[in-house]
Amino acid sequence: MAKIDADIGSFLWNIFPFAVGLSLIYVFRRNIHSSIKSRRSRLFAWILNRFTTKVNKILRKEKENAFRYLECHREKLGHSLFVLEIGAGPASNFDYYPRGTEIVCLDPNPYFESYVEQNAHKHENIRLSRVVQGFAEEMGDLEDSSFDAVVSTLVMCSVRDPRKALDEVKRVLKPGGIFIFVEHVAAREGSFVNKIQQMMNPVWKTLCDGCNLTRNTASYIKNTGFSDVDIVNFHLKWGFRFLTYFIRPSIYGCAVKGTST
Ligand SMILES: C[S@@+](CC[C@H](N)C(=O)[O-])C[C@H]1O[C@@H](n2cnc3c(N)ncnc32)[C@H](O)[C@@H]1O
Ligand SMILES: *[C@@H]1O[C@H](CO)[C@@H](O)[C@H](O)[C@H]1NC(C)=O
Repeated sequence: MAKIDADIGSFLWNIFPFAVGLSLIYVFRRNIHSSIKSRRSRLFAWILNRFTTKVNKILRKEKENAFRYLECHREKLGHSLFVLEIGAGPASNFDYYPRGTEIVCLDPNPYFESYVEQNAHKHENIRLSRVVQGFAEEMGDLEDSSFDAVVSTLVMCSVRDPRKALDEVKRVLKPGGIFIFVEHVAAREGSFVNKIQQMMNPVWKTLCDGCNLTRNTASYIKNTGFSDVDIVNFHLKWGFRFLTYFIRPSIYGCAVKGTST
């Protein structure tokens, strides 16, 4: 009897530290979860900021083409533009804005704010109006029909609900306002690259902050009820050709909000 008691005693004594550890994890589970999440967000912000020059080099031509729509819009309106950039990240696009543009930057990741502000100081062509922490799907803070243009580069792949995000984009645009975009998209349905994209998607999504390889952004944009949509297909020339061919299919273009909708 004494032997069994001693065994139980030592067993309990052995599991005691684990039980305490597990209880602590249980009690502080919310704090632990949010601490991991915030470290992840901080890391993504840092990485994206580091790579922004490189990405801009690869995308220079297409970004210039897309931002030309902004320049035309400015000329047409005859005044400088008030623009919302969604998923602005570290504000990699400030270089491309026409002179005098006033910009609101929106991103759900709060760790971009300091990068955006640093970046704004280096750009005399723009004025940073404010940085908003939020999702493109829920831009309740931003008024209906208030922007001359909305900009999105490499964002529609990461939003959780592209339908909702695009409805919001259209809502905040002034009638006649334009939405310009540069996005990587799903390869043609049934193609070999599309199969690879589907295969890689779950892992990719986890590693790349929610980026979805098989998003057919072009058809989402066409189905948002814009009055006029211009879309150009191109292939993004990332380095490591062999490793990156599944993120090459891309589009850039412009969609106009009708004056009567
Ligand atoms: C690949 S980065 C692109 C950053 C920048 N636009 C560029 O071209 O370099 C995707 C960005 O979208 C943001 N994002 C993710 N989900 C979003 C959402 N639901 N609404 C708005 N932005 C989102 C991320 O925080 C990230 O900054
Ligand atoms: C990626 O986006 C497509 C189209 O929006 C959707 O049908 C699919 O379920 C998404 N995949 C993942 C892994 O979220």
